[in-house]
Amino acid sequence: MSKQQELDGLIKSIAAAGEKLPGPERRLFLKQGLTMLGAAGAASGAAGIGAAEAALPPGVPSWTKSLGTGVVTNPYGEPSPFEAHIKRRNLEWLTADKIASISFTPLADLKGIITPNGLVFERYHAGLPAVDPGLHRLMIHGMVDRPIVLSMDDLMRFPSISMTRFLECAANGGMEWRGAQMDRLQLTHGMLACCEWTGVLLSTLLQEVGVQKGAAWILAEGADGSHMSRSIPMDKALDDALIVYAQNGEPLRPEQGYPVRLINPGWEGNTCVKWLRRLKIGDKPWYHREETSKYTDLMPDGSSREFTFVQECNSVITNPCPENPLKGPGKFWVEGLAWSGRGKIKQVDVSFDGGVSWRTTRFTSAVLPRALTRFGVEWDWNGAQALLQSRAIDETGYVQPTYGQLRAVRGTSSIYHKNAIHTWKVNNNGSVANVQIS
Ligand code: CO
Repeated sequence: MSKQQELDGLIKSIAAAGEKLPGPERRLFLKQGLTMLGAAGAASGAAGIGAAEAALPPGVPSWTKSLGTGVVTNPYGEPSPFEAHIKRRNLEWLTADKIASISFTPLADLKGIITPNGLVFERYHAGLPAVDPGLHRLMIHGMVDRPIVLSMDDLMRFPSISMTRFLECAANGGMEWRGAQMDRLQLTHGMLACCEWTGVLLSTLLQEVGVQKGAAWILAEGADGSHMSRSIPMDKALDDALIVYAQNGEPLRPEQGYPVRLINPGWEGNTCVKWLRRLKIGDKPWYHREETSKYTDLMPDGSSREFTFVQECNSVITNPCPENPLKGPGKFWVEGLAWSGRGKIKQVDVSFDGGVSWRTTRFTSAVLPRALTRFGVEWDWNGAQALLQSRAIDETGYVQPTYGQLRAVRGTSSIYHKNAIHTWKVNNNGSVANVQIS
């Protein structure tokens, strides 16, 4: 009898013995049986056939010869335990406290353009509030004819719309401004996500309350402990601003503003106020903390630019990257993500020689306005050092700048709105490092 036949026989006898037992005991018995089987595999490994080897063709893996768990074993569902490394991460040293901090989206391990709800980066200014949707209200007041206070049920009565749009923190890549080189894609670009957002257009609600003549700004305020607030121009409110209660088909996650938030498509994430409780209509901005002390752009002459809302055209290669090294020379699928707060992506070029020559890539996802767009290009790596870059162009004709071009205008003291062409250095051994080329 071969080792494989021995293992097959063992599985059959475990299963047959298990069948005679009542439910709970049967499950325990089968679990113990599988442990025995592992030991048998290990023992046969010593004899030349390991459990792993036996599972490879022409062998048959153990999971094809036993029954799995039934439905609703895990009522919500979660990824395979083999993918447990795909998770948000934070940097302990980046902020003084976890309640006013950020975690990063694991872009290197994601496919397509949709970010799964559990992996969307987090940004809190006073920790994650536990909001009861039954008691939560959204008040709209100020320069309006008919101020209202809406419950979630009230909000659900309005016509809804869904749109797939990116969400990016204005500080994404901010650590790179002064030359710091984070060693993971997750940390260089991970304050970025893209979801299908569902809710009510803010313009619909403004029509309901009747905006008065002279109104030009809206204060959006959150229900977290910091009452995070931003002044939003009326033009954006009447364009595509969305009062959102669902993401990727399910209710908003608490981290994303449950039960309701503002999304200003293409604008810095900080304006997309979470746990939204109040919209006040006025004739000028409020100059609150997050639009004066923070989220302004320090320019080379020492002045600060206010109200720079748009996330400009940007891109990054997600494969290869430090988390996805190359495993030996040969053919590779180089791919990445591009996005623009001004509309659709028109073209993405990739360089393998640090920007000396460029190849146009093709889009491998839907090309939606103000959404992540995936691009890819074939590459035959000869094993030599290479400097990989991507350069995106949006539908307005704007071309993503080099570090040199960006710093010529913005200097080196800024934190926000960094969209320079990013460089990955591929080493001879296939490892990938973050380097800067001006
Ligand atoms: Co800004």
